[in-house]
Order: sequence, then C-alpha cells, then structure tokens
Amino acid sequence: MTFMQAKSPSQSLTINTEVVLPNDTNHVGNLFGGKLMQWVDITAAIAAQRHCGRVVVTAAINHVSFDNPIKQNSVVTLEAKVSRAFSTSMEIYVDVLVENTVTGEKTKCNEAILTFVAIDQNGAPLPVPPLAPETDLEKKRFESALRRRQLSLILAGRMKPEEASELKALFVQD
Ligand SMILES: CC(C)(COP(=O)(O)OP(=O)(O)OC[C@H]1O[C@@H](n2cnc3c(N)ncnc32)[C@H](O)[C@@H]1OP(=O)(O)O)[C@@H](O)C(=O)NCCC(=O)NCCS
Repeated sequence: MTFMQAKSPSQSLTINTEVVLPNDTNHVGNLFGGKLMQWVDITAAIAAQRHCGRVVVTAAINHVSFDNPIKQNSVVTLEAKVSRAFSTSMEIYVDVLVENTVTGEKTKCNEAILTFVAIDQNGAPLPVPPLAPETDLEKKRFESALRRRQLSLILAGRMKPEEASELKALFVQD
C-alpha cells in the first residue's frame, strides 16, 4: 500500500461567496434551501478534491441545519474544509456565514456536513491522504467525525449498530 503524506485541513479550505438573487428565494423571500444545498455540495466537493487530488462524488449528506433564514440580496460565504479522512472517504464541514457588507461582520447562519469518496475512472473508490488537524476546532471536529460516520453507515444500512464502537450505547440495549 502506498504511503500518503498527511495534509492539514487548511490545505483544503474552500471559500465560495454568493449573492441571494430573486430567483434563489422561496415564497417568503428567503434563500431557498435547495439552492443553499447546491452551493454547499459544490463548495464541499472542491474542498474534498483539494485534499485528495482526485475526482470525488458525494456519498452522503450527514447533517444540514437551517438555523436562520437568509434574506434576498444577502452576501453569503460558504467555508468548507476536510474534517477527517478515512480510507477512501472524507468528511467535509461547511460553515455558512452571512456578511454585513457595510460593517464586514459575518454571522454564522447554517452548517452542513457531507461525505465524499475519491473515485477512479471506473467509479471505484481510491485511497485518500490522512488528515492532520491543527487548531482546537479542527481537532474537535476530527474526533467527532467517527461518531457521525458510524451513524451515517448505520442509517444507510452499511453497518450494524452493534459494530459501531462509538455509538453502541445509543443503539444496543442489554
Ligand atoms: C459513493 C460510492 C463511490 C461508494 O462506492 P461503494 O462501492 O459502495 O464503495 P465502498 O463500500 O468501498 O465505500 C467507499 C467509502 O464510502 C463510504 N461510504 C459509503 N456510503 C456512505 C455513507 N452513507 N455515509 C458515510 N460513508 C459512506 C464507505 O464507508 C467507504 O469509506 P472508507 O473507504 O473511507 O472506509 C458509490 O456508492 C457511488 O458512486 N455512489 C453514487 C455517488 C453519486 O452519484 N453522488 C452524487 C449524488 S446525487
């Protein structure tokens, strides 16, 4: 097996800034959730590609929260980084911020967590480099990623609850 050099989360940092145009809004004038998901998916995919240097596909959307409505004309910044790399899959964390263009202040409105898999030309999964978290937040997200992976695999029917070392207590009753 080829040794791969670990990479830091900052090496995959991807920042995407968008403006909420009338076509992006729902019937109450706020950013349409599906539009936000499109921006999230693309930004996260670029972060995953920057980490592994391969073509990637979305394997799962593990979590999305719509904490605050985002108004038409808002300037929205999406910041994505790899939060953990496994064998062929990577978890990507996306923070969604709304910017006050007068003061420059950014407020976090949403977050999303996705899983991407590196693939070859036939769609077969390929190994990805390990991740070496650096900041306290990166370390916290790295640690909790294993729980999210196991939950995602259980929900997808790819893992039995009793095999989930991090979650057994939640699922398996004595
Ligand atoms: C994602 C995909 C490549 C996985 O292929 P596969 O043949 O099932 O391969 P594996 O079982 O070896 O899984 C590959 C990795 O994905 C991970 N994975 C698959 N489904 C997952 C899920 N729901 N949640 C978290 N991880 C998942 C596996 O755990 C494995 O990770 P690891 O190698 O780091 O341990 C394949 O299912 C696929 O091509 N899906 C369609 C992708 C797509 O079209 N995306 C666009 C969405 S509209």
